[in-house]
Amino acid sequence: MRSLSTLPKAELHLHIEGTLEPELILELATRNHITLPYATLAQLRAQYEFTDLQSFLNLYYENMAVLVTEDDFADMTRAYLTRAREAGVRHAEIMFDPQAHLARGVSLATSVNGIAGALASSESDFGISTVLIAAFLRDESQDSALSVLADLLEMKAPIIGIGLDSAEVGNPPSKFVKLFENARAAGLRLVAHAGEEGPPSYVWDTLDLLGAERIDHGIRSVEDSLLVKRLAREQVPLTVCPLSNVRLRAVDSLAAHPLPQMLASGLNVCLNSDDPAYFGGYAEQNFEVVATEFAFDTDTLERLAANSITSSFATVERKAQLL
Ligand code: ADE
Ligand code: ZN
Repeated sequence: MRSLSTLPKAELHLHIEGTLEPELILELATRNHITLPYATLAQLRAQYEFTDLQSFLNLYYENMAVLVTEDDFADMTRAYLTRAREAGVRHAEIMFDPQAHLARGVSLATSVNGIAGALASSESDFGISTVLIAAFLRDESQDSALSVLADLLEMKAPIIGIGLDSAEVGNPPSKFVKLFENARAAGLRLVAHAGEEGPPSYVWDTLDLLGAERIDHGIRSVEDSLLVKRLAREQVPLTVCPLSNVRLRAVDSLAAHPLPQMLASGLNVCLNSDDPAYFGGYAEQNFEVVATEFAFDTDTLERLAANSITSSFATVERKAQLL
């Protein structure tokens, strides 16, 4: 088999703000005259110990302060594409958090144009086809999300779909029914985080109330055998992020990760890096750690990579090229 970094793969669960490496954070802080609470690389790196999702989100939102101009967003995006190419990523579906930038006084045009500008030439510059997904913060109100979605549509932002992320527990899918209705009516594709820290009922509701086409994470689905049967029958794609789950303590250890059980149950799972700058690895490292931990054979690893391509929103022609 080709090495895991040359296995052609798609990355379907990736927060572009989660690709900001500590070096780039400090470089952008200097460039924009922003004072972070951490003056040195060592001080910043010392913050990367997480106890749960919220402890990570606090740092993730804090570090976004260095993103000010379109160029900052474009530089971050190109840095990711450079690294993703090395990981064998040939297609990437990239989420960004427009509300987190608006809250800091950074306009929609700045984040959208910066990221989308870099993505426009991703295929010619990096050999990676890309699409952009606007993710909405579930710990904000639905009214806020509705207003940002309306603005994105009004400005004809080049987004293929919407997602739902941030603090899951206490912010159930039922809070965002209208948002997903409006996005569907606008012809957008629908994905949402569910079952990362939240219970299996959030996965059911993400399918039934929001009509999501893909579930980001979904690992807690294994606690509900009826849900597993449904996910298997409908082949709902689950974008699993092993290193993220370990670092955010959604699982006790990599050995305790439900990935083997998910595969054995016939679920449509693929591997993703979520916020690679924070969790210790890009796409190929997520493949490597599970290959080693679970002694996966070539067929299994190739199946995981093929699932990522078939579950993507790439065109039929692009999928055929990559399979
Ligand atoms: N935002 C960035 N990474 C996230 C994650 N793993 N879960 C929820 N929201 C996120
Ligand atoms: Zn995520």
